[in-house]
Amino acid sequence: METKIFKPTDVAQAAQLIQAGQLVAFPTETVYGLGADATNVTAVKQVYQAKGRPSDNPLIVHVADVATVERFTQPLSLAAKKLIKAFWPGPLTMIFKLKPAALAPEVTGGLMTAAFRNPNNAATLALIRTAQTPIVGPSANTSGKPSPTTAQHVYHDLAGKIAGILDDGATKVGVESTVLDLSGTQPAILRPGAVTAAEIEAIIGSPVLTEQQHVGVTEVPKAPGMKYKHYAPDAQVYIVDQVTDWPQALTWAQRQSSSVGVMATNVILTNNQIPANCEQFSLGNDIQSASRELFAGLRHFDTETDIKIILCQAFENKGLGAAYMNRLNKSAGQTHFSV
Ligand code: TXA
Ligand code: MG
Repeated sequence: METKIFKPTDVAQAAQLIQAGQLVAFPTETVYGLGADATNVTAVKQVYQAKGRPSDNPLIVHVADVATVERFTQPLSLAAKKLIKAFWPGPLTMIFKLKPAALAPEVTGGLMTAAFRNPNNAATLALIRTAQTPIVGPSANTSGKPSPTTAQHVYHDLAGKIAGILDDGATKVGVESTVLDLSGTQPAILRPGAVTAAEIEAIIGSPVLTEQQHVGVTEVPKAPGMKYKHYAPDAQVYIVDQVTDWPQALTWAQRQSSSVGVMATNVILTNNQIPANCEQFSLGNDIQSASRELFAGLRHFDTETDIKIILCQAFENKGLGAAYMNRLNKSAGQTHFSV
């Protein structure tokens, strides 16, 4: 299959493909998604096939308006309505209880709930409106690999497997949306993202659970995606926890027999001697740029076969840093450089 690249002005052609049950990757403010008509079971099944995704891991339903959410869900709570008003369109996914059999089990992973999101990207909102159907969209990467933040990343993973990619340049946030479960007695963050627990609490006026749930292989997980290997490049990632650890980390890197990728902010790259066997990838100047560049950096070093080790800078585990560290910890399999 030829994978066509569409510009935002070609949205009508991309929408026709969605209506015809084909897969089209789409841009959002977070990462690129792999789109299919959420009401077409055959198309939704192909999403799992194209990604190599385990079929018990449910998908996010992307909508252009709240009325579409209400077609499928039980009446929304006051808290849900306040959060929608505050954060949509934007990087907050919310899980709601469904009306009986409102969505196919292929979308929900067989749960009585579903995840909904109103992405902040004009081309994708136009795609959903023109196709006149909500669009399911997991991140448009091969399952287990870092999420795609450019159309080129999507093309690398899925060319020949999907009908098209709507290209709107690099995404602005870079880490996937916050997933907030509103289907239980207390709101719970299942995946941290750019909308933080503190921001959610400020809107709803009550506490939000943020504990990481520990998920065994046999348990039914809260966010089914959490139990799988994620964001893993081919190289082994080592997290460098403190700014003051870098001199030792780079001395260690110099002694390695392979090349080493170094992902750090400009301050660290300029204030340290970078050994000749190390290749730099700048994370910019702050947590915003680091989140935007994290997956691109991991993917960059995957294209260089001689790089077997990546050293990557840690950030403080709060605010957007909680989202960044959640992704980095998974990509590193919790491996830290220890002094
Ligand atoms: O930013 C994003 O959220 C991107 C863009 C494309 O919108 N999408 C994305 O989708 O990251 P995906 O499929 O890679 O991650 C969705 C997460 C998974 O961890 C999944 O298990 C969880 O949301 N999820 C989906 N539906 C759920 C449900 N009903 N209950 C609990 N968790 C759910
Ligand atoms: Mg994903």
